[in-house]
Amino acid sequence: MTQHVALSHTTGSFEAVVAKQLDDPEQFWLDAAQAVDWDQYPTAALDDSDAPLYRWFPDARLNTCFNALDRHVLAGRGDTTALIYDSPVVGKTKKYSYATLLDKVARFAGVLADAGVGVGDRVVIYLPMIPQAVVAMLACARLGAVHSVVFGGFAAKELASRLDDAEAKVIVTASGGIEPSRVVEYLPTVVTALELSRGTVHTVIVKARPEVPGSASEYASPGTQWWDWRETMMAAEPHAPVSVAATDPLYILYTSGTTGSPKGVVRDNGGHAVAMTWSMKNIYDVGVGDVMWTASDVGWVVGHSYIVYGPLLAGATTVLYEGKPVGTPDAGAFWRVVSDYGVKTLFTSPTALRAIRKVDPHATLARDYDLSLLEAMFLAGERLDPETWTWASALLDKPVIDHWWQTETGWAICASPRGIEQLPLRAGSPSFPVPGFRVEIVDDQGHEVGILDEGHIVIRLPLPPGTLTTLWNGDQRYIDGYLTAFPGYYLTGDSGYFDRDGYLYVMGRTDDIINVAGHRLSTGSMEQVLAQHPSVAECAVIGLHDTVKGQKPAGYVVLKSGIDIDSITLAEELVAMVRNQIGAVAAFKEVTIVAALPKTRSGKILRKTIRQIVNGEDYVVPPTIENIEAIALIVATVDPSLN
Ligand code: COA
Ligand code: AMP
Repeated sequence: MTQHVALSHTTGSFEAVVAKQLDDPEQFWLDAAQAVDWDQYPTAALDDSDAPLYRWFPDARLNTCFNALDRHVLAGRGDTTALIYDSPVVGKTKKYSYATLLDKVARFAGVLADAGVGVGDRVVIYLPMIPQAVVAMLACARLGAVHSVVFGGFAAKELASRLDDAEAKVIVTASGGIEPSRVVEYLPTVVTALELSRGTVHTVIVKARPEVPGSASEYASPGTQWWDWRETMMAAEPHAPVSVAATDPLYILYTSGTTGSPKGVVRDNGGHAVAMTWSMKNIYDVGVGDVMWTASDVGWVVGHSYIVYGPLLAGATTVLYEGKPVGTPDAGAFWRVVSDYGVKTLFTSPTALRAIRKVDPHATLARDYDLSLLEAMFLAGERLDPETWTWASALLDKPVIDHWWQTETGWAICASPRGIEQLPLRAGSPSFPVPGFRVEIVDDQGHEVGILDEGHIVIRLPLPPGTLTTLWNGDQRYIDGYLTAFPGYYLTGDSGYFDRDGYLYVMGRTDDIINVAGHRLSTGSMEQVLAQHPSVAECAVIGLHDTVKGQKPAGYVVLKSGIDIDSITLAEELVAMVRNQIGAVAAFKEVTIVAALPKTRSGKILRKTIRQIVNGEDYVVPPTIENIEAIALIVATVDPSLN
């Protein structure tokens, strides 16, 4: 087992925590559990009776919402600010104390209960970055119901597939969201999704925003009642927190898999509360009274963990920012928010920094703001390129901490845990495995590789508390997809290597997932859409390097024989299909027609080779290639002189 610790780089505190966790993981997590208020205290941490599926705190009971809100109010911190809503797109800011947020959440839990939602029922939340999103999530947690938040940039078909997979009873939505360039009306999308879905939803609750047309009263669909958020809130009775088993699901979060159908990552209540609370203190060094701003979206795991649950479980103040890093109104927006609210810890994505840097390369706008309270910036969601890390570190003169994690893990696998010890940082590395994650690098046969050798990054089972317990309705899919390739390990899907001092370097995915502007997307699902076009015989979607978004999808299509369609028309049609079926967030805009795609003799498209060629990387043509001449066709798309 490898647990790389840079002996020469720590004062010993980090090593001591790593050693303690390895020495007695059961006691380590039971100790960590003391930071949570339980209705029934855990007497055991790990339940491995159903391995390789693991459960945490099997005999304990709690309520996550109680831990996030009530207990802070009961401790006399009701007046402390829990949530700051800052929306440059509608020109509003609003602060919610813990007492106010608790009141709203308890009332909305009452609304959901009136709609027949109880323990274990699924509620899909399709909301923009407005306080109602936080209220709805916590209200579900209060009832022991299971929320599934769907990012606003997804189209109706994606929403419908999530409604069906989760068998949702209720949708909580709004009239819409606001992108800098346009208003995004949600209700037509919801109606289409309801039509496409199997009809499990009986209630739609709509927050009508003055800035976006549409309200509950304008809609009616057979078998579905439409309620207005404001009216129902006024009539509702506050609902008390419902005690649930620690192993009961808190939420399902769908993420891109290697096939078209999204995977519902299941998070439990108990393990999650323990992991979130532990990570706030030990990784982020954020506690009661501190201000943490995570500039992400509640539709992503980063938003779940560190806009909503982590900061509130810790009794901190969280910022909910409905805006962009640039253009709302300018590239100084992040520095303005940090300064306005005295943010201590900022968490964002490398893409956001690259977007700011592109517009304001010398960060002159940052000079207008007081950033003195900011102590550290954390980055995740995609690889942090050394150039961006160096730029941000010089700009802030504070630790800029890359940390690596996934929707599945729910919190950082590798980080420099600031609350334990600020370890020296290295460009291009998210530092060390966090206690609880036993990270190893293996080759295709599952043998551990040497230092500096790149391979599959795997994590020895069991994963720590707070990580996925399974996929929704998909124990076998979880086992097949993650736990079978290398028995005894969880397959992260990322490749990378350790350096001599134990720093991990995460280099990229080994599957067909790409990361576009910090958004995780499946090229496989885009290919499924392109293949539906009547002119397309076959296609490959690959990730092209992009200086701001990290990657962007690009489609290579082969036409059916005898088809005569001009390339611009075809590209427009394909781009529209992906936008309509997956959503604007796919950012699919590039199509190239080629006469053939390189394939192996068994008919497998050589996507990796195509990706390497079009990204200008070194490539090796596999000996199993069927049509070597197709390589020249791909080369010609990047080097037209060869045409
Ligand atoms: N609802 C509806 N549409 C959305 C959306 C949402 N919540 N979020 C994005 N979109 C749309 C955008 O408007 C855009 O549409 P367009 O094609 O009509 O222009 C499309 O989806 C692609 O969006 P995006 O890839 O984000 O590009 P962008 O040019 O709009 O913005 C950035 C670029 C860098 C400013 C933006 O991607 C960003 O802020 N990224 C950081 C992401 C992040 O924090 N991720 C969390 C990981 S920790
Ligand atoms: P998501 O599930 O959307 O959080 O995406 C997870 C994937 O994003 C990981 O498997 C990585 O491929 C990538 N990723 C996230 N954080 C990092 C990071 N700090 N460094 C490199 N890749 C990252």
